[in-house]
Amino acid sequence: MPPTTARESTLETFPWRADLPTRLRALLPFATLAPSSHNAQPWRFVVADDHVDVHVELDRWLRVADADQRELYVSIGCALENLLIAADEVGLRTRVGYFPDPDATTLAARVQMEGAGGDHARGGPLFAAISRRRTVRERFRDEPPAPSQLGSLTSCGASDVHVVLSADPAVARRFDELTTRADALQFADPAWREELGEWIGRGVYGHGWLLSRMARLAVAHLNLGASSGRSDHALLSHTPVLGLIVTAGDTPLERVRAGQTFERVWLLAEAGGLALHPMNQTLQIPASREAVRTLIEGDLRAPQIAFRLGRPLATGDARSPRRPIDEVVDPPTTEPGPT
Ligand SMILES: Cc1cc2nc3c(=O)[nH]c(=O)nc-3n(C[C@H](O)[C@H](O)[C@H](O)COP(=O)(O)O)c2cc1C
Repeated sequence: MPPTTARESTLETFPWRADLPTRLRALLPFATLAPSSHNAQPWRFVVADDHVDVHVELDRWLRVADADQRELYVSIGCALENLLIAADEVGLRTRVGYFPDPDATTLAARVQMEGAGGDHARGGPLFAAISRRRTVRERFRDEPPAPSQLGSLTSCGASDVHVVLSADPAVARRFDELTTRADALQFADPAWREELGEWIGRGVYGHGWLLSRMARLAVAHLNLGASSGRSDHALLSHTPVLGLIVTAGDTPLERVRAGQTFERVWLLAEAGGLALHPMNQTLQIPASREAVRTLIEGDLRAPQIAFRLGRPLATGDARSPRRPIDEVVDPPTTEPGPT
């Protein structure tokens, strides 16, 4: 019986002998452990006889913070990559068709699966890292990761998506300035605060019911821009490496592909004992995204996601909650699984 939530990357309950749709459904809890902005989990999966369709759920799009839908499609790419890694781990061969049906506007990807023959190019340590990965919003140790480790992370990129890592203090200073300014601008915007407050109130960051509601009120009614800027500055002062995932342009396809690369980088970092913290306020404001673009050297110049990377001091934040699996899968499971 498939698990309703993949608390560990374990295949103990995987229905190895079941028909293909049942096996495909059992992979989806691993897809939903992917990161997403504000933990909005803006995805829906439709399981067919030999494929899974990955849809964007537009009513979970952050219309204020993510007006151009960049993070929406990056988040979809993260979930898609987890699905491919999990499929590979159970020996399924996959083929991805991106935006395969022009009439189905929410359909971001169709993953065709065949019963045998995964090449384990994606599984293994990356699969094991799926359930351990989490956002670490803490100071990092000041010593940088080993160059060989950074080299492996950079090679997660492809011809259409590059991974740019920088330990240059001048880049760090400029990114810090831009982040502090972006924090101030966002908290000064009541619509932005209202949206953040609404998601916090839904409990997406895992606080209890009462705390979530109190945090919602605080965010919606207080201008916390200066204090957020100070705490981000403190975090950035203990950040040995800054990273960017970049593409040539800004199409939904490029953003999904950027999300896939980002998730691979994050899982590989996790597998190697590193911690990662996306920090995207600079990319959410057009003028500061433009300023970040000038920090990039190389052919591809559209920044899709920015992050801090380093060795964690602490074990990291508690795990954030996920939507119940039946809420994100069509058709829902007929038998109730263990909770
Ligand atoms: C596209 C994207 C953008 C994100 N931006 C930020 C950010 O700017 N600041 C932040 O603290 N976390 C950011 N996150 C992390 C999410 O908040 C996090 O993934 C989510 O709360 C789920 O928690 P988890 O990563 O621990 O599973 C981002 C994640 C994604 C995928």
